[in-house]
Amino acid sequence: MPAGDPEAQATGPSMQQIADWLKTLGMSEYAERFVDNKIDISVLPHLTDQDLKDIGVPLGHRRKMLAAINQGVESIRLLAEATTGVAPTTQEAPERRQITVMFCDLVGSTALSARMDAEDLREIISVYQKCVAVAVRRFDGFIAKYMGDGVLVYFGYPEAHEDDPERAVRAGLELVAAVSNLKTHATLQTRVGIATGLVVVGDLIGSGSAQEQGVVGKTPNLAARLQGVAEPNSVVIAESTRTLVGNLFELEDLGAKDLKGIDGPVRAWGALRPASVESRFEALHTSGLTDLVGRQEELDLLLRRWSKALDGEGQVVLLSGEAGIGKSRLTAALLERLTSEPHTRLRYFCSPQRTDSALYPIISQMERAARFARGDTAETKLDKLDAVLAQSYTPPEDRALFAELLSLPNDGRYLKVELPPQQRRQRTLEALTRQIVALAEQSPVLMIFEDVHWIDPTSLEALGRGIDRIKAVGVLLIITYRPEFEPPWAGRPYVTTLTINRFGEREIGALIDNVTGNKPLSASVRQDIIERTDGIPLFVEEMTKAVLEAEGEGAAERTAAAIPSPALAVPASLHASLMARLLHRVHGIGNEVHYYLLQLDPLGHYLRKVFS
Ligand SMILES: Nc1ncnc2c1ncn2[C@@H]1O[C@H](COP(=O)(O)OP(=O)(O)O)[C@@H](O)[C@H]1O
Ligand SMILES: [Mg+2]
Repeated sequence: MPAGDPEAQATGPSMQQIADWLKTLGMSEYAERFVDNKIDISVLPHLTDQDLKDIGVPLGHRRKMLAAINQGVESIRLLAEATTGVAPTTQEAPERRQITVMFCDLVGSTALSARMDAEDLREIISVYQKCVAVAVRRFDGFIAKYMGDGVLVYFGYPEAHEDDPERAVRAGLELVAAVSNLKTHATLQTRVGIATGLVVVGDLIGSGSAQEQGVVGKTPNLAARLQGVAEPNSVVIAESTRTLVGNLFELEDLGAKDLKGIDGPVRAWGALRPASVESRFEALHTSGLTDLVGRQEELDLLLRRWSKALDGEGQVVLLSGEAGIGKSRLTAALLERLTSEPHTRLRYFCSPQRTDSALYPIISQMERAARFARGDTAETKLDKLDAVLAQSYTPPEDRALFAELLSLPNDGRYLKVELPPQQRRQRTLEALTRQIVALAEQSPVLMIFEDVHWIDPTSLEALGRGIDRIKAVGVLLIITYRPEFEPPWAGRPYVTTLTINRFGEREIGALIDNVTGNKPLSASVRQDIIERTDGIPLFVEEMTKAVLEAEGEGAAERTAAAIPSPALAVPASLHASLMARLLHRVHGIGNEVHYYLLQLDPLGHYLRKVFS
């Protein structure tokens, strides 16, 4: 074979190593696939579950491979170095990940077993487990283990989402509701406990005794204990989870609890229901915003587009940028600037959990606008809806469509709309556009549609129709999204694309100052933050807070933890951000994945350096 022939490289020594490695696992059947995908030994430590899935390795074998990779990181590194002369940049310590663990259990199963025969009880447990599986799958959780009538569930492993803690709590709440609605021989109730913490991935994916360890790890144990103190039909969450879900849920403070096997009392919270929040951004920023840094040009541009809208020239701004770059912060700054100007605000928020839920952002906007409250009867809700719609002189037929959209029964106040589904859908979308035009005729409208990379297809269609219409009415529509979304509307004369860039050194410095206030920070620490956060404001904030928190813990603790475990020194919120970013990379630019994985430990080393 001629030199440089790709085939020759593909079957070179490092590929032979892969074949040998697979053979030791008894999985030689995948050798060809690894070769086809140019996975040589140096790539092994960076393989994710998704990668293996993509090349068609079934679940059981993926687990085995990942476990083997994890256990053999060091030997793989030496092997690769020996064959290719290039050491892959592996993490030397095992990977630590933040996961949210949910533990749920069927209430009173012992009593049930005394009352009914084994056959019926088995059936009940199986119905219960199916119910858990449905709720968990809906939020992309992972059922790690069935333990009798208890179920151990992970959110954040194997697949991580930036909102795993929120997903876990939502799944818990839905599970409680679903179980209490089950029709079986007996009325069933469940209890749910949820906790977030760092775990070593090896503990999660190991087999045999390692897996048992995963179950008795600190976080799973805390989740199980919290489940134990939960009232029937309730969800109890740990403080660690609570700080990450901000104000997204209505919570009840259950005070400090002493739990078996856990040192010291722990604060526990009852999660009652999702809160009706105007904005995810605000719900997750409960302690207020730091002052705006930079973005003056961007803000000026938005204000210029706003004044065009005031002149009746409808405008659309496509605001794009990476996660954490400051899209929401910029829209918040605009809203603040316009508080004293009369206008109508319409805010829509797409959710990572509702990407398939038809018209979700639009329905939730209407529910908020109508101020539906918990416990409202259908009639009250209809009255409230009517009251808002009256303000925009909505015709009765459209009102009927909106009521239906909000799943409210027509109590006879509207004529029945008899239409085949397809036509009904068309009419509803038209009614939505008419609504916006009607509002704009009364006063200028500022519409903000956030996180459109998570939009459902029907909302996308509605948004498209809206964009077609607003060019001739007094509306400024701002659409925010991450770069993976490709908006089909760019290029029209009334559509402006605005990409938000990363911060430069000066801006990073200013943001650090805003976060630290008047607390001192050494020049070398500042420089480290500047270098390590890639100009992403979210990371600048989180890392600065992390350093401050750690310093605030004082000398006593510094000496107490003689050799702190590196990653444990990094607070949970920072891990969440890093995981989110990692996730982003996994779906986006794959080759940067390991870089961010690596950040976990160097960050710890770095913090250790700061304290020593
Ligand atoms: N220009 C800025 N000035 C001050 N803080 C900012 C700025 N941009 C972003 N931040 C902060 O960084 C974090 C991430 O910003 P956010 O607007 O939520 O990002 P995005 O919506 O693009 O994901 C927030 O806490 C936000 O307050
Ligand atoms: Mg945002």
